[in-house]
Amino acid sequence: MSFIKYSLNFLLLATLCKAFPEEVQKCHFGDEKCLVDSMNYVIKHYRKGIPEIGVKPIDVVDIADLNLVGHAITSTWININLTNQINYGFENTTITSVQGFNKDPTATHLNISGHIPVLIHKGFFKAVGQIYLVKANLSGISLSEFQNLKFTLKLKSIIEFRNNKRYLKIYELTPIVKISRWVIWMEDLFTENSDMTIIVNRIFNDNWLEIWNEWEPTILNSFSGVFLGLIKDVFDKVSYDDLFLPDSEDKLT
Ligand SMILES: *[C@@H]1O[C@H](CO)[C@@H](O)[C@H](O)[C@H]1NC(C)=O
Ligand SMILES: *[C@@H]1O[C@H](CO)[C@@H](O)[C@H](O)[C@H]1NC(C)=O
Ligand SMILES: *[C@@H]1O[C@H](CO)[C@@H](O)[C@H](O)[C@H]1NC(C)=O
Ligand SMILES: *[C@@H]1O[C@H](CO)[C@@H](O)[C@H](O)[C@H]1NC(C)=O
Repeated sequence: MSFIKYSLNFLLLATLCKAFPEEVQKCHFGDEKCLVDSMNYVIKHYRKGIPEIGVKPIDVVDIADLNLVGHAITSTWININLTNQINYGFENTTITSVQGFNKDPTATHLNISGHIPVLIHKGFFKAVGQIYLVKANLSGISLSEFQNLKFTLKLKSIIEFRNNKRYLKIYELTPIVKISRWVIWMEDLFTENSDMTIIVNRIFNDNWLEIWNEWEPTILNSFSGVFLGLIKDVFDKVSYDDLFLPDSEDKLT
């Protein structure tokens, strides 16, 4: 029995080792410069992900449905439900800094910071609202561009043991996001009145900062789901130690 178990484990291990792409540089624990380079290499060369080790596609990223309620602009309130949402642009992410991925990752804060030149968001919206004196039921496709997006992801994690290996389980991810502009275009807001569509879109774009400030917590919540989805599985599929070069101290023991 135990022989079969061991062989199975060995096979699994061999598969995993094979799955980890050779050209991706493994790093020493805590070598932040090396980790930044490796992550950027994976982002650049594996837009479609590396399913074997849990790296999801990053060129097209789905988001869970979202409900936004707002009254940031005077005389205006709106309740929007967004569905069938996708993001483009994660593939152009540059990781700028990584902190805390030491031999004991639970001893320090884990942060990953990066920059996305343009994040494009597309979704179907259904909204009820009052814009100045006009009450309306609106629906259509919205297209957003978040320009110059800078993020820091703060991760909280614990170590889990499986087959005597350490796995990093990320249980919380808090994103801090800064953008320099949000450009939004809602198509067919008023099907019979394209002037009105243009006016309302202009109101949104002129007041993007107020709207962003009001919706930021909800949007960040949604982002955290996206980011979590992108990285959690890697740590779930590959043991923490197998993501790094062997520690020289380990070899002696
Ligand atoms: C990503 O970068 C490439 C190359 O600069 C560019 O052509 C593409 O439009 C960018 N993708 C998005 C979604 O902005
Ligand atoms: C990383 O996280 C710690 C703790 O939250 C924080 O003090 C530090 O400023 C963060 N680093 C970056 C680059 O944001
Ligand atoms: C959005 O969804 C919520 C919850 O499902 C619902 O209460 C609300 O009426 C919906 N709003 C619109 C505009 O459809
Ligand atoms: C919006 O739709 C609801 C339910 O379908 C309806 O009761 C309401 O009168 C509509 N409002 C406008 C301004 O069209």
